Amino acid sequence: MECVSLDVEAVCKVAELVFLALPHGVSMKYAPGLIAAGKRVIDLSADYRFSEEKAYSDWYGRPHESADLLGEAVYGLPELYRPMIEKATLLANPGCYPTGAILSLAPLVEKGLVELDRIVVDAKSGVTGAGRKATLPLLFPECNESFRAYKIGVHQHAPEIETQVSKLAGKGVKILFAPHLVPMNRGILSTVYCRPVKELSDGELRDLYLSYYKDEPFIRIMEKGKYADTKYVTGLNHCDISLHTHGRSGTVIAVAAIDNLVKGAAGQAVQNMNIMYGLPQTTGLI
Ligand SMILES: NC(=O)c1ccc[n+]([C@@H]2O[C@H](COP(=O)([O-])OP(=O)(O)OC[C@H]3O[C@@H](n4cnc5c(N)ncnc54)[C@H](OP(=O)(O)O)[C@@H]3O)[C@@H](O)[C@H]2O)c1
Repeated sequence: MECVSLDVEAVCKVAELVFLALPHGVSMKYAPGLIAAGKRVIDLSADYRFSEEKAYSDWYGRPHESADLLGEAVYGLPELYRPMIEKATLLANPGCYPTGAILSLAPLVEKGLVELDRIVVDAKSGVTGAGRKATLPLLFPECNESFRAYKIGVHQHAPEIETQVSKLAGKGVKILFAPHLVPMNRGILSTVYCRPVKELSDGELRDLYLSYYKDEPFIRIMEKGKYADTKYVTGLNHCDISLHTHGRSGTVIAVAAIDNLVKGAAGQAVQNMNIMYGLPQTTGLI
């Protein structure tokens, strides 16, 4: 494929759907023109992930330039919002950290099985999660052989996770989100800690997830005793989830592994396109 400079008019002549894989703040310069031209848009940035303009400007540090489209955008997490995705004109593809965190929390939160003020998402991402920009902390000598936390409590994906989990809970949920950078190219492992409102056995926990995701081709619930591992999802559009109970501390733990570049970004975008066009959602994906 030949790469050419972005020309919206030329794109509109040849495409009915456009993927915007642009930085935050850049997508919103192009999406309105594409929508006005009658195109469907899948935006991989965060520009249309919030319905509230204030949430966007507070967390992304800039005013929104096309806030009128925020109410139209559909949050593109297929396992939760497929009927809305089918009809979407403007689709906000979820963030990479939120994808793993929300999928691992959804069954417990939606069924009201965990305390909502005690949720911790402890997540580790490979370096491609930050895109290909050249910044000092992402240079090879800085991150190789190193493992560090960053932006604890202030990462821009925290409000996205909270917004979506709150929708599932039917009330506002505050979550402690602690991201880490791991010296690997791709992959996110999210370890989610919750306190159950009643005792849950390993079997009940696994049955809950198996039933919640029973029709989902890209969710794999691991067998008892196995752990989700980024190696098993590299290059795949899958989210592997392993489930664990820790009786002594009264904690339920869900561990989710995704490839941030696939289920966390481009693969999920293709899955959404498939749904929007009535294709089998696995088309073109492994
Ligand atoms: N990486 C991930 O794991 C991940 C996961 C989920 C979502 N996302 C989101 O998806 C989007 C793309 O991510 P990425 O990792 O692919 O980022 P990236 O590696 O930084 O690539 C961004 C691309 O946007 C182009 N670009 C920048 N400013 C532009 C402008 N003003 N006009 C036209 N093109 C412009 C860049 O072109 P040049 O190369 O020519 O500068 C580059 O190709 C971002 O919003 C990101 O937050 C990323």
